[in-house]
Amino acid sequence: MKNYEIAVLPGDGIGKEVVPVALKVLDTIADLHGGLKFKFKDFPWSCDYYLEHGKMMPDDGLNILKDFHAVFLGAVGNPAHVPDHVSLWGLLIKIRREFQQSINIRPAKFFKGLKSPLVNPNDFDLIVVRENSEGEYSEAGGRIHQGEDEIAVQNAIFTRKGTERAMRYAFELAKQRRGHVTSATKSNGIVHSMPFWDEVFKEVKKNYPDIQTASYHIDALSAFFVTRPQIFDVIVASNLFGDILTDIGGAIMGSIGIAPAANININGKYPSMFEPVHGSAPDIYGKGIANPIGQIWTAKMMLDHFGERELGKQLLNVVEDVTNDGIKTCDIGGTSSTVEVADAICSRLKEI
Ligand code: NAI
Ligand code: MG
Repeated sequence: MKNYEIAVLPGDGIGKEVVPVALKVLDTIADLHGGLKFKFKDFPWSCDYYLEHGKMMPDDGLNILKDFHAVFLGAVGNPAHVPDHVSLWGLLIKIRREFQQSINIRPAKFFKGLKSPLVNPNDFDLIVVRENSEGEYSEAGGRIHQGEDEIAVQNAIFTRKGTERAMRYAFELAKQRRGHVTSATKSNGIVHSMPFWDEVFKEVKKNYPDIQTASYHIDALSAFFVTRPQIFDVIVASNLFGDILTDIGGAIMGSIGIAPAANININGKYPSMFEPVHGSAPDIYGKGIANPIGQIWTAKMMLDHFGERELGKQLLNVVEDVTNDGIKTCDIGGTSSTVEVADAICSRLKEI
C-alpha cells in the first residue's frame, strides 16, 4: 500500500473552494485503486491567519511541513486586508525558497471543449521548466540619489549550478515526452548572463544525444507561442522569461482558471509544492463558480511527481472529457458550479 501524506493549505478566497473538491477527486482515485491512499492534513495558514496572529504561518511552520510527501496549496492573498507582498513573502515564497523548490513547471495544452483565443490552436501540448530560485528575481541591487540623479540597479544572478539544474530537469522531462527541448535566451541583448546561459545549454545538451534542441530569443519565442505553439515540447527558461511565457501559455489555453503548476524540490530533501497558477480571485469568491480544473490538474501533477503517471494521465483525460461534454464553469463559457464540475469528474472516474 502506497501511503502519501499531504499537507493541505487551501489559503484564501477561492483556494478554500477549489482545494476541497480537488481532494475529493484524489480520494475518489484512491478508492478506485486499492494500492493507494492519501492522508490529508489541513493547515489554516492564510491572510485570515495573519489577521488573527500577525503572521502568515507559525514560526515553526516549515518544520511542520518538511516531513510531508508534498504540499498541496490553493491560493494566497486578500489584498483588501493584507498587502500582497506580505502574504506572498510570508508564506509562498518562504516555502519555495526554504524548501529549495528550484524548478517551477507549468504545462499548457490544447484542451478539448475549451475555446482558445487562437484562431487555429492546432493541438499544442507544451511544458515550461522555469528556473525558480535565482536569475532576474534577485534582491541584489539598490537605489542611490534622488530626483534627477536617481539611479536604480537591479542585478540578475545566474549560477552554473542553478542553470544546469533547470536544464537537466528539462532534458530529463523531454525524455518522457516527445524528446525536444527549446531554450529561451536573449544573448543578443543581454551580454553576460545570456551567453552564459547558451554555453551551459550546449554543455548539458551533450549528455542527451537523443534529444532534439532549439534556441530562440525570448521575443521571437513569445510570438511563436501565439502563432505556432504546436512546435514546442519542453521549454527551459530563466525565472523572468519563464514567468512571462507561462502567462501566455495560460492565455492560449483559454482561461487562467485551468492552468496548473508545480514547484519541484529536486534533491529530495524537502517536499515539493503543488499550486495552480491562478490567485485567490476575491472578485468571485463565495459564489461557488470558481473553476476547479486548475487545482485538479495540479493534483494530476502531484500524482505524476509520485510516479503515478498512468493515474495522472487518466485523470486529465477525464477532466477533458467532462469539459468537452459542456460541464464547465462560467469563465470558460459554461453554467456549472465548482462542485458540479468536480462531481462530474468523480462520477466519470468511477465509470472507467
Ligand atoms: P487571480 O488569479 O486571483 O484573478 C485574476 C482573474 O482571473 C480574476 O478575474 C478571477 O476571477 C479570475 N480567476 C482566477 N482563477 C479563477 C478560477 N479558478 N476560476 C474562474 N476565474 C478565475 O489574480 P489577481 O486578481 O491578480 O490576484 C488576487 C489575489 O491572489 C492577490 O492577493 C494576489 O496576490 C493573489 N495571487 C496569489 C497567487 C498564488 O497564491 N499563487 C498567484 C496570483 C495571485
Ligand atoms: Mg506570473
